[in-house]
Amino acid sequence: MDLGLGGKVALVTGGSKGIGKAVARGLAREGAKVAICARSRAPLEQAAEEIAREMGSEVFPISGDLTRPEDAQRVVDATVQHFGRLDVLVNNAGSAPGGEILNLTEEQWQQALQLKFMGHVRCSKAAIPHMLKQGGGRIVNIIGNDGIKPVGFEITPSAANAADIALTLALADQYGRHNILVNAINPGPVETERWDQIVRGIAKMQGISAEEAQRKAIRSIPLGRICTPEEVADVAVFVASERASFMNGALITLDGGQRKALLE
Ligand SMILES: NC(=O)c1ccc[n+]([C@@H]2O[C@H](COP(=O)([O-])OP(=O)(O)OC[C@H]3O[C@@H](n4cnc5c(N)ncnc54)[C@H](OP(=O)(O)O)[C@@H]3O)[C@@H](O)[C@H]2O)c1
Repeated sequence: MDLGLGGKVALVTGGSKGIGKAVARGLAREGAKVAICARSRAPLEQAAEEIAREMGSEVFPISGDLTRPEDAQRVVDATVQHFGRLDVLVNNAGSAPGGEILNLTEEQWQQALQLKFMGHVRCSKAAIPHMLKQGGGRIVNIIGNDGIKPVGFEITPSAANAADIALTLALADQYGRHNILVNAINPGPVETERWDQIVRGIAKMQGISAEEAQRKAIRSIPLGRICTPEEVADVAVFVASERASFMNGALITLDGGQRKALLE
C-alpha cells in the first residue's frame, strides 16, 4: 500500500529517542522529509544522522524546549523555513511525574501540564496557520492510555492525557472542515528510556523491586508483553498518511488491552 507520504514534510517532537525516533524513522522510510526536535543537541543530531543514513532521506534536527512557548514557535517556523511547508505534526514529546495526590506538589502538577499538555497546545497553535495556508495537514498526538484508564498513582499523566484528548477532539471538530485531520494514539507501556523510569517509580511507590514492577506490568497486558516503539510508529505513520483520509477525532488505544487495575 502506498501511504502517499513521499515528499511530505513532517515535524516529530521528542524525535531523538524512544517512540518519537521510531515515528521519525517510519515517516522517513515512507519518503517524508522529517524535522525532529528535542532539548539535548548531541542525541538529536545523532538520531538525525542515523535515520538519514538508514533511509537515504533528509532529517533536520532542531533543538528546543517545548515547555517554552517561544521555542515551540521557533521549532515549527524553522521546519517551514527549512523544508518550505509542514504537512504532518506529530506531538510526541511529553512526560509527567508519577505520584499520588497527597504527595504531589503544586510544582509537579505545573510540570506535568507544561510539557505533556501545553507542549501539544503550543506546537498545534504554531502549526495550524501553516496548514490552513496550504489547504490541510495532519496532527497526530501521541498521548497515553492514562487519560482513558486513569489510576491514582499516575494521576498527573492521567490528567494531562485527558486534557490532550480534549484538545484532540476540539481541534478535530474545528479544523476538520479545513482538511486538517487531528487524531490521538494512546499507548500503554512502551519499551523506552521513559518506561524504565516509570517502572522504577512504580517500584519505589509500591515498595517492590523494579523487576517485580515490570512483571506486574506485563501481567496487566493480555498480550503478555510490553509494546515496542516501532509498533506505535507503524500506527502513527498510517494515521499521518493519505490513506487515513477519513480519520478525524479518532482516539486509538494501543495498549494490548491492558487492565490497569492489575498494576495496583
Ligand atoms: N514509554 C511509554 O511507556 C509511554 C506510554 C504511553 C505514552 N507515552 C508517551 O509517548 C511520548 C514519548 O515517550 P517515550 O517513552 O518515547 O519518551 P523518551 O524515550 O523519554 O523520549 C522523550 C523524547 O522527548 C524529548 N523531550 C523531553 N522533554 C522535552 C522538552 N521539554 N522539549 C522538547 N523535547 C523534549 C526527549 O529528548 P530531550 O530529553 O533531549 O529533550 C526525547 O527525544 C510521551 O509523550 C509519553 O508520555 C509513553
